[in-house]
Amino acid sequence: MATLKKSSPLNREDGGALYEQLADRIEGLIADGVMLPGDRVPSVRKLKQQFGVSMSTVLEACRLLEDRGLVTARPQSGHYVRENPAMKLEEPSESRPSHEAVKVDRVMSLKLKLSIEDESILQLGAAVPSTNDFPQKTINRLIGQSLRDESELAHKYNTPRGVEAFRKAVCKRMMYAGISAGPDDVLVTNGAKESVYLALKAVTKPGDTVAVESPTYFDLIVTLESLHLKILPLATNPRDGVSFDCLGGALQKKQVQAVVLITNYSNPLGVCMSDSRKKALAAMMERHDVPLIEDDICGDLCFGDERAKTVKAYDKSDHVIYCSSFSKTISPGLRVGWMVPGKYQSKVEQIKLAINQAAPTLGQLAISKYLNGGGYERHLRKLRKLYQQQTSLMLQYISQSFPEGTKVSKPSGGHVLWVEMPEGVDSMKLHDEAIREGIAIAPGPIFSPREDDFLNCMRINTGLPWSERIEPAIQRLGELAVEQLWRNGVRKKAVKRKPCKCEPVVSHKLDDNVVMGNRH
Ligand SMILES: Cc1ncc(COP(=O)(O)O)c(C=O)c1O
Repeated sequence: MATLKKSSPLNREDGGALYEQLADRIEGLIADGVMLPGDRVPSVRKLKQQFGVSMSTVLEACRLLEDRGLVTARPQSGHYVRENPAMKLEEPSESRPSHEAVKVDRVMSLKLKLSIEDESILQLGAAVPSTNDFPQKTINRLIGQSLRDESELAHKYNTPRGVEAFRKAVCKRMMYAGISAGPDDVLVTNGAKESVYLALKAVTKPGDTVAVESPTYFDLIVTLESLHLKILPLATNPRDGVSFDCLGGALQKKQVQAVVLITNYSNPLGVCMSDSRKKALAAMMERHDVPLIEDDICGDLCFGDERAKTVKAYDKSDHVIYCSSFSKTISPGLRVGWMVPGKYQSKVEQIKLAINQAAPTLGQLAISKYLNGGGYERHLRKLRKLYQQQTSLMLQYISQSFPEGTKVSKPSGGHVLWVEMPEGVDSMKLHDEAIREGIAIAPGPIFSPREDDFLNCMRINTGLPWSERIEPAIQRLGELAVEQLWRNGVRKKAVKRKPCKCEPVVSHKLDDNVVMGNRH
């Protein structure tokens, strides 16, 4: 049986309930490989003594570990570390796009029903979080308060830069990402998508070439196409991110006029670039005097406690345009994003003025109150844990339901997984077959400007609260993939079909009142 060496007392001041802290300690030991699959978790009595906590705290911690899919209870015997088959899965291979820029004439993603408006479809395709996990009640209350207290400001025209109180609040948040910017450096937008659009419009002209990760977020391809820009997809590794050899080569040859990268928990690969690579990237952009548009929309969604830094944090020469939003953490519907345009500030302001004057004021007022009230950090702690659990469960189900040879990304944040199925599975067909059965997936080709790339891949959304619909849906997707392989002539014996053996899981729901504690 494993013994718990890390038994320094738990501390109420450390934040988080004691049972969560205890569960986190045990989870840390499982993650470090100190406690292995099959190991018995020390008894309730022993944990109680060792950590100086009550019996109910220990029982709650064990329940939480069960919910996280990490331990299983055996009657009369105790808790045991679960086999995690997902850990045995390989990560997808590095992409190998050709070295030529592509002019997009057909945007694949627009042909598909990603079905975000159809509630009968299980949304494993679009990277949509569940807004029930967001602080809706608190934000609604703060919207009401803003209308009462700042009615005039809420209703009048604003300047392109946006509400000052919001810009100040966002500057405090950006310090966690290593960015020191003042409110006058910030421009508020209608979401991260508009931030990236404005940045591209400011730094490129039609016909220019922009380098992106391969695979990349499909709506970025839509944006680039709408601006008549060519796309240079760069080889990207699910562990480290974009290949510096490819990027450096393209910069050296002056092949690109701008670069757009999603540096933290990228979409769809889930990569978080290391600090040393971010630093090297900032230096590379300076050396070649090319702007980098950094999309950091998921930066707050790390699975651990420490928020990842950004390339902007290392940008000494003003070559990085930082873009983000609260769509992934507070509300996608309020459309509140922002950017730090640096030397392109006045150009970006001019474009913003021309298209829509300014971002709507009300959402900015409510979110700035929320940020200043201190509830956001607490909300993030819950959300990060929730996404970590949901991602871990999804990994387990995928590993048990998909044909042998399937590879899956293992992100350390965000809420998407990239699944590479064996050659012979056509994810476009899989999409059509699955949608007929009420399941949406995002097939691989839509993440590339070339329509035959990533045919055997798909992205899966892990932002939905765990429900009894998800397990059979993943199992069914696995069966459909297996059936395709059979139809394509792969011998039945050669395709291992694995029935899902996972145990049912209790779903978590964040309680708005408990999570927020925001009393504005
Ligand atoms: C990488 C990335 N950038 C931008 C967006 C769009 O963000 P917003 O809704 O804030 O415009 C998304 C949405 O999923 C995304 O994944």
